[in-house]
Amino acid sequence: MQLDTLRTLAAQAADTRILDLFAQDPDRAQRFSASTGDLLFDYSKTLIDADIRAALIDLCDQAGLAERRDAMFRGDKINETEGRAVLHTALRNLDGGPVEVDGQDVMPDVLDTLQRMRVFAEEVRGGTAQGAGGSFTDVVNIGIGGSDLGPVMATLALAPYHDGPRLHYVSNVDGAHIADTLRELDPTRTLVIVASKTFTTIETMTNARTARAWMLDGGGDPGRQFAAVSSAVDKTEDFGIPSDRVFGFADWVGGRYSVWGPVGLPVMIAVGSNAFDAFLRGGQAMDVHFRAADWAENMPVILALVGIWHRQVLGHASRAVLPYDQRLLRLPAYFQQLEMESNGKSVAMDGSALSVPSGPVVWGEPGTNGQHAFYQLIHQGTDVIPCEFMVAAEGHEPELAHHHRLLLANCLAQSEALMRGRSLEEARARMAEKGLQGDELERQARHRVFPGNRPSTTLIFPQLTPFVLGQIIALYEHRVFVEGVLLGINSFDQWGVELGKELATSLGPIVDSDAGTEGKDGSTAALVSYALRHRG
Ligand code: F6P
Repeated sequence: MQLDTLRTLAAQAADTRILDLFAQDPDRAQRFSASTGDLLFDYSKTLIDADIRAALIDLCDQAGLAERRDAMFRGDKINETEGRAVLHTALRNLDGGPVEVDGQDVMPDVLDTLQRMRVFAEEVRGGTAQGAGGSFTDVVNIGIGGSDLGPVMATLALAPYHDGPRLHYVSNVDGAHIADTLRELDPTRTLVIVASKTFTTIETMTNARTARAWMLDGGGDPGRQFAAVSSAVDKTEDFGIPSDRVFGFADWVGGRYSVWGPVGLPVMIAVGSNAFDAFLRGGQAMDVHFRAADWAENMPVILALVGIWHRQVLGHASRAVLPYDQRLLRLPAYFQQLEMESNGKSVAMDGSALSVPSGPVVWGEPGTNGQHAFYQLIHQGTDVIPCEFMVAAEGHEPELAHHHRLLLANCLAQSEALMRGRSLEEARARMAEKGLQGDELERQARHRVFPGNRPSTTLIFPQLTPFVLGQIIALYEHRVFVEGVLLGINSFDQWGVELGKELATSLGPIVDSDAGTEGKDGSTAALVSYALRHRG
């Protein structure tokens, strides 16, 4: 990535105040925002001006973004280290044409599986599919990472549409997670979905075996009460799940991109197949936009370029995702996997070292809660943390519209405060109003200075519907893709998770049976020894 021009522009902008850019250009908010459908993405509260945006857009052409994007949608094997196509977009290609992998149209299989999911979901919801004790009151999804975070996030987000059985998610291998989840459930009226792309993930398989034993102990019937979601269909049979309860997907769906297909089954059971279709259509609408819009109006591209500007050009190490929506509680965690597992790489596709920083740390919490926790650092800490706000124009509780007005006001206030700040003179004037004088006035005023000029973006939408959620998720997926293309990396593998898995496997017997810590470093050996001494 050639950043010389952008670094020069960044140096020139070093003393610019974002607020002044608005004074110079009354149309700034319109000129530095992108829209598609009912979504509006405002990036005017950043230092990006016309020259910077033009230089950022040049990066897209230098990287051959259009060709890479078309290659992805065409089914080329752009996940080069695993030799796989990247086609999660096919899962939401409801009205699109054929999509080929190795000369084979994958759409008939995709649509067939989707139809089987719809039938099964409606059977569970309607009580036709039953457990040993009658219709299903509860569904437990067992999965981790991409087989958990997407459905968890979407189930919470779509709570107003949830009219199916209660849903629970178990991911952690910590027995506390499954114990606390199963404690209140009826083993004869609970459906367990085991979701694992590989069907080998140790956490998921351990939890699945525990759930099966619990069900058998409690008089349930795993033959009727288990379903599986996987791309390793043979392994689901070995586990004893009947084939009509197995929903497969291909290896060209990455785990963190999989909520659109069978991994989304629990969401479909919760909200029904029509609402799930609307979610898919939202994602598809974003695909259409991403494929057609010019870079300057292309929302995922612009979102990615804002990311590149803040991380690779200005060097800000993290970005905060701040949804002003309690139902987007798990969105930051979902984006953490999406962004950090995809773009947390330090070698380019050809194995050479990256000359620029990898993707940033992504973190966040819903507003307004975060305001009363970590916003202090965002406003007055020494590091600049670009913030990505998100908010709906209206909520789902008309009787509580006054709550939503407060929520919206807080969201807008935060981005304004980050930009405006408060100068020492203003802080002094406030202290003087309170009657302070001299050294005490000066001392107190300095604590009340806000540097301001801190960048943020805001994504605003009418209401958090299934369609809008689909748009938002696909927007961020494509953002990650574009950033990955500009960095020249493979966003679709995750080799960085492997070493820890291997070492956990070798440590298993050691912590299990005192097999000896030979070959382990002193710290690890001492920690093992402590654990062995302190357990009953
Ligand atoms: O360990 C990382 C990872 O491979 C993720 O990429 C994936 O989403 C998660 O584990 C779960 O994998 P699986 O769906 O195969 O159980």
